[in-house]
Amino acid sequence: MQKKRLKLKKQAQRYIIIIIALIIFTIIGVKCYKTYKYHQTNTYHLLQKGYNNDEVNLITTKANDAIDYILNNEYNPKIISIINEKYFLAKNLEKYLDFWQKQEDEELKDIIAMVNTHANEKWYTEKLETDINKNEKMLVNKFYALNENYAPKNLKNISLDYSYGTEGENKLIDYAYDAFQDLWQSANKEGYYLMVTSSYRTYEEQKEIYDYRKETQGERKADETAARPGNSEHQTGLVVDMTSIKEPSSTEFKESNAYKWLQENAYKYGFIERYPENKTYITGYEPESWHWRYVGKEIAKAMHEEQITFDEYYAFYLE
Ligand code: DAL
Ligand code: ZN
Repeated sequence: MQKKRLKLKKQAQRYIIIIIALIIFTIIGVKCYKTYKYHQTNTYHLLQKGYNNDEVNLITTKANDAIDYILNNEYNPKIISIINEKYFLAKNLEKYLDFWQKQEDEELKDIIAMVNTHANEKWYTEKLETDINKNEKMLVNKFYALNENYAPKNLKNISLDYSYGTEGENKLIDYAYDAFQDLWQSANKEGYYLMVTSSYRTYEEQKEIYDYRKETQGERKADETAARPGNSEHQTGLVVDMTSIKEPSSTEFKESNAYKWLQENAYKYGFIERYPENKTYITGYEPESWHWRYVGKEIAKAMHEEQITFDEYYAFYLE
């Protein structure tokens, strides 16, 4: 009897040892597996490269689309500076680095803005198609063009009360015209009498304007002030060139209170100044105090707050 009990006890001890061994192996196994898995993560590889925890966090939250590039290259603090920029787009990381290297003296925010808007490339080198389905949010510039046959629907004649020229010469898309009338009334209440000098233009009309400038001033000069056919926002039917009755010339208008009023208030009606001062490196055009583009109230307000061009806004928020 005692022998049997002793045998059972030994057997129980063996089982316990086996169970303990199994538990230990399982724990070690799980640990090894976890370590193996962790070594596969981007976090581990980034830390190995020398990025600190905050930087790893930044990369994995804001630059996941560029993770392959970051992992395939050495630790680069410039990457962190770039990702920290407000208008950083992961898809452009390599282009920012490349352009920054070529333009070392440029401010980083300008590097970002230029790459986002293609302005780091030569004007007109990349030919992209304007997405007309975006309606009042569509982008037309030196890279994005409308085709020859594009004409907006629902154009309305601008009343001769607000426009120079003959009846039917100036037109806007209906909803932009409604917004323009609201803007005009408000300006008028403040004592400013605005007049439209140009608005919707067909592809052919723009071609005539551009070709004339090119013939008389040469291509380089013409490109600073006039868009090539297809690349003019005027073809969208969303643009008014304006002046004021009291200060009709562009030099007078630029210094006028009417212009200042537009700069402070036009966004409330959905209009933005399309080619502002000090933004030629993004827009490709000399400043045009007269050229106002309808983008809708929401975007106009955001742009007014952020003080960015429509090219930048489009690249970051709409594309
Ligand atoms: N003047 C502007 C840029 C145009 O020709 O559309
Ligand atoms: Zn214009």
